[in-house]
Amino acid sequence: MRKFLTTTAIAAVMMTMGGLAAKAEEGVEVLHWWTSGGEAAALDVLKKDLESKGISWTDMPVAGGGGTEAMTVLRARVTAGNAPTAVQMLGFDILDWAKEGALGNLDEVAAAEGWDKVIPTALQQFSKYDGHWIAAPVNVHSTNWVWINKAALDAAGGKEPANWDELVALLDKFKEQGLTPVAHGGQAWQDATIFDAVVLSFGNDFYKKAFIDLDAETLGGAQMKEAFDRMAKLRSYVDDNFSGRDWNLASAMVIEGKAGLQFMGDWAKGEFIKAGKKPGADFVCMRFPGTQGSVTFNSDQFAMFKVADDKVPAQLKMASAIESPVFQSAFNVVKGSAPARTDVPDTDFDDCGKKAIKDLAEANTNGSLYGSMAHGHANPASVKNAIYDVVTRHFNGELTSEEAVTELAAAVEAAK
Ligand code: GAL
Repeated sequence: MRKFLTTTAIAAVMMTMGGLAAKAEEGVEVLHWWTSGGEAAALDVLKKDLESKGISWTDMPVAGGGGTEAMTVLRARVTAGNAPTAVQMLGFDILDWAKEGALGNLDEVAAAEGWDKVIPTALQQFSKYDGHWIAAPVNVHSTNWVWINKAALDAAGGKEPANWDELVALLDKFKEQGLTPVAHGGQAWQDATIFDAVVLSFGNDFYKKAFIDLDAETLGGAQMKEAFDRMAKLRSYVDDNFSGRDWNLASAMVIEGKAGLQFMGDWAKGEFIKAGKKPGADFVCMRFPGTQGSVTFNSDQFAMFKVADDKVPAQLKMASAIESPVFQSAFNVVKGSAPARTDVPDTDFDDCGKKAIKDLAEANTNGSLYGSMAHGHANPASVKNAIYDVVTRHFNGELTSEEAVTELAAAVEAAK
């Protein structure tokens, strides 16, 4: 047979083989912390999308909500000269890596696809460094949410709490029903997530002065003491086994009707959806009492690291796939977040998702959209960790509220 193959035919076969080889090599290695049921389901939407485009996926999961552990592993990898292609990352961490000169450049694909016009400026602040695109935002989450078991709420009279006093009254009713009123996991980032909402409930100015401006008087003042008092009150509604519990296990307590509610970002919705629960019927989503109209956001972005030239095309294709409007809808419906572009229709989103999209747009227009302290969008990691430390020690009863405000102001001052 072989002798009948013409030179042209041989060349064609070789080109095909070469093409196949090149295709098989096109892949991305992705470091992330999306390991819960809902998170993994959302990540699967991205994996499958890339695989359908011929890009293979090498998974590098590092468990740990909020990404603290993932960031430690990342540091070790980069130090060893072995950066992944793409890394799930939050806010100021992205800028820190950019400052170190570790990130690649997505300008070509961003310009071709007009990202400047459709990605909100609040996100661009973290997706660009020195005028260049360095990361592809995949979603917009926010932290000032409450997830309530619907049957428990109905048994408590059915009214969503409109303010702090009504919230406390509801938690007391959950206790009377024999439930754990607040499902919570004692991990620093989870304590801080509640603190985001509690501080915001004292008003936009207070949140801004405290966490964006890092104003010492606000951090150490009387109102901050009240915020800590509220944290202590909420602490009295968690169960004895809360310490170290993962956030998704806390969500499961609400899903299974063992707990009344959870204060958590809208990634919690991913868990409810994964468990087959429906908003309005099985659970209720609402903004933390007193924060309706304001949003403390965090956006997961894929920061693109400097990789060998032959790996860049797959990296750019991944960035492009992430920003496709169709993907943005499909992914965020599962993840519980709002799209990272302003032009994605809300048609496929459930009522909580529609509310997330609407709240975000309104907060953006009204100037009541703030970066989440707990999720790295208000300050660099040094300041964030200083706040975490005080909030957690206070939550665990190691500090009184008076001591906490003094420590908070001092710790932030030292870290900034
Ligand atoms: C957040 C992240 C979310 C979710 C959550 C819990 O920081 O933005 O996507 O994964 O942590 O792991």
